[in-house]
Amino acid sequence: MPKILITGGAGYIGSNTTQLLKRRGFDVVVVDDLSRGHKHNVENVPFHKITLSNTAALVDVLRSEACDAVIHFAAYIAVGESTQKPELYFTNNVGGTLSLLTAMVETGIKRLVFSSTAAVYGMPKTVPIPEDSAIAPLSPYGDSKVIVEKVLHWMDQFRDVRSIVLRYFNACGADPESTLGEEHDPETHLIPLLFRAIETGKAITIFGEDYPTPDGTCLRDYIHVVDLAEAHVLAVQKLLAGGSSDTFNVGTGEGHSVLEVVRSVEKVTGKKVPLAFGPRRDGDAPVLVANSDKLRKTLGWKPRYPELDDIVTTAWQFEKRHIAT
Ligand code: UFG
Repeated sequence: MPKILITGGAGYIGSNTTQLLKRRGFDVVVVDDLSRGHKHNVENVPFHKITLSNTAALVDVLRSEACDAVIHFAAYIAVGESTQKPELYFTNNVGGTLSLLTAMVETGIKRLVFSSTAAVYGMPKTVPIPEDSAIAPLSPYGDSKVIVEKVLHWMDQFRDVRSIVLRYFNACGADPESTLGEEHDPETHLIPLLFRAIETGKAITIFGEDYPTPDGTCLRDYIHVVDLAEAHVLAVQKLLAGGSSDTFNVGTGEGHSVLEVVRSVEKVTGKKVPLAFGPRRDGDAPVLVANSDKLRKTLGWKPRYPELDDIVTTAWQFEKRHIAT
């Protein structure tokens, strides 16, 4: 079976994809600097603690492990933090990827699946958003991904590096068949923060209630992490079969407001979420909902968890296990 190098495999989406690849019979090797990921997420896989800026170390791993393709997750991901520290986001997300690509060129590895984001679209004119919508990020985070997408275009043209760019919408949920789950530190994502508000009794602040949406709060496309992981498996299989470079949205196509997510969490947990309303958060787009027809048609992708309540249920199961340990 082909061997896949996974950068950022100790993180939330990276670790879920690593486990799914293993279950499908792929050989895997993870590199992660553990600056945001967790050692316990990579306990049962070959793992190298390497920071992406260390090109020579990446070359060593790619060569010694004889990798066939790379899935590149390692990046900082918080929209809000990127507006406070843009330089951190460009150094890590763009600089780290350039280092990885340099190592790939040096070792002759020419297939890459790249984690991009719905944040590249900014305020889209058409919703659900197709892949050919205008690119207009509202945050340094989103722009760091746009820059890498542009680099990948040129790497395809002049270095024959074939890449599939997956633009994720809002990853969430947990795999009931594994012990993995969402545990960012600091946590910035809505669903785990809603659980935390219930557990601590401290109100969560809803960022803005005056958006041009039906209930005034932002609409997002919440995509289960297992469905996201499946998209990576399909993408890397396509590249390994000689497929050409391409870009896909990964989302369910359903938009849910922040308040709808609150109601779903209350329904699933049977508990009231303490809420407060605050100002809008810098860099937040009012509506981000995917048109994922291309992924469905081209790669045959179909979400197993299209319903928000089911997604929240799996996230809550993880949260309960997590609190208990
Ligand atoms: N929100 C709150 N209060 C909080 C946290 C979040 O109201 O304490 C709101 C946000 O304003 C947003 C929604 O909940 O409207 C979802 O916010 P998240 O922080 O969970 O996720 P984002 O939409 O900001 O970002 C996520 C990923 C990005 C990705 C984006 C694409 O973190 O990497 O989805 O949709 F780009």
